[in-house]
Amino acid sequence: MTSKIWGGRFSEGPAAIMEAINVSVDFDQRLAKQDVRGSRAHCAMLVATGIISEADGLAIQEGLTRIEKDVALGAFNFKRALEDVHMNIESKLAELIGAPAGRLHTARSRNDQVATDFRMWVRAAIETLDEELAKVQSALIDKAEAFADAIMPGFTHLQAAQPVTLGHHLLAYVEMFGRDRGRLTDARVRLNECPLGAGAIAGTSFPIDRHMTAEKLGFDRPMANSMDAVSDRDFALEFLSAAAILATHMSRLAEEMVFWSSAQFSFIRFTDAFSTGSSMMPQKRNPDAAELVRGKTGRVFGNLFGLLTVMKGLPLTYSKDMQEDKEAAFAAFDTLELCLAATAGLVADMKPDREKMHKAAAVGFITATDFADWLVQKLNIPFREAHHITGRVVKLAEGSGCDIGQLSLADMQQAEPRITDDVFNILTVEASAASRTSFGGTAPDQVRKQVVSARERFLKRSA
Ligand code: ARG
Repeated sequence: MTSKIWGGRFSEGPAAIMEAINVSVDFDQRLAKQDVRGSRAHCAMLVATGIISEADGLAIQEGLTRIEKDVALGAFNFKRALEDVHMNIESKLAELIGAPAGRLHTARSRNDQVATDFRMWVRAAIETLDEELAKVQSALIDKAEAFADAIMPGFTHLQAAQPVTLGHHLLAYVEMFGRDRGRLTDARVRLNECPLGAGAIAGTSFPIDRHMTAEKLGFDRPMANSMDAVSDRDFALEFLSAAAILATHMSRLAEEMVFWSSAQFSFIRFTDAFSTGSSMMPQKRNPDAAELVRGKTGRVFGNLFGLLTVMKGLPLTYSKDMQEDKEAAFAAFDTLELCLAATAGLVADMKPDREKMHKAAAVGFITATDFADWLVQKLNIPFREAHHITGRVVKLAEGSGCDIGQLSLADMQQAEPRITDDVFNILTVEASAASRTSFGGTAPDQVRKQVVSARERFLKRSA
């Protein structure tokens, strides 16, 4: 029985179904620029090696120039009947220049062609993401500099742990995004080998020059094994893995922005540009952009798991399953570009409230560690014992419903008689944060140094 849903569309029978499942030009037209570039290099090599004549080479290059222009203008008319981007461009070339077009595919297969195009596309995608990541880092560093001394509670287990500065907290993300850039750049190094010339699977009997095409296309070298060249997509998986980790990092910052901006926290506020209202509750200012950055992480994971699943257990070499590789990478790239722009915008837009953050930091015996450290440093008490004494002091404070710093000296001396007055100097949140001057610590002076170092490491353009 014909399905009511697609029965009408597929009235022509199996052939139409075949086209519908086989066609990839709807999405792989995104490779058109790379495909033309690859063909240009291949053609130049065929001429240089004497495999095709100079006259045919010239005609092909001229035709490709016209195609390139149409592609750039978005004026190229892709036809679904021609299946994929490669066949579309080759047929157009034949339309434009006639017989010489038929020589372009000498010593080449769509298998090495698509692997080459896709590698070039992922390489460019990595370069774009690297630039977008630098913009996010730049926004974070600027904000960190402005709030290098803004005290807030630092959390472990989402319980107030020790006072930190907002600058320090934001710089943590600068480091994470720095490693994301590193992962992408590492993937780029490994992917930058050229599959072109592998043919369908086994190489070719024509005297091609794979080093020449590799160099023309900006690859470091030709891939060493033709079977590997046409059959692996690990470069796309590496890209997607790095993308998934990056999305995870963005989702954590987004989540913090969501609760920091809630009325209960009120650590930050977004301007109207990044807030949305509720259709029912007039008091609401919803952080939709941050929520969506958090939520879109799921898509990127899906892209990674989808392609891993496609590739799992595939025998060498090319199988049509692998046509499913491209949409995952395209979708992850689009999602990340959008989320990175939103994240940079959110960071620049957020208005931290120093007072609210400070107030939230000055609760929950947050300077208890400072108290213990003081006992160690001033009274030479072993840390383990200092921990116990501090526990008793916290218990006393808890019993009297106050913070440690609000106890009297006499109260404290019940726990340890050698305690002196100057312990009170270290029990403020400012003193606590300012004392953490170790490398990478939260003291405002450290944070300012880290700001300089982060700019140096991440934002300096090599000329
Ligand atoms: N559209 C194909 C893909 O994306 C191109 C390679 C086709 N190769 C083949 N032997 N049918 O994988």
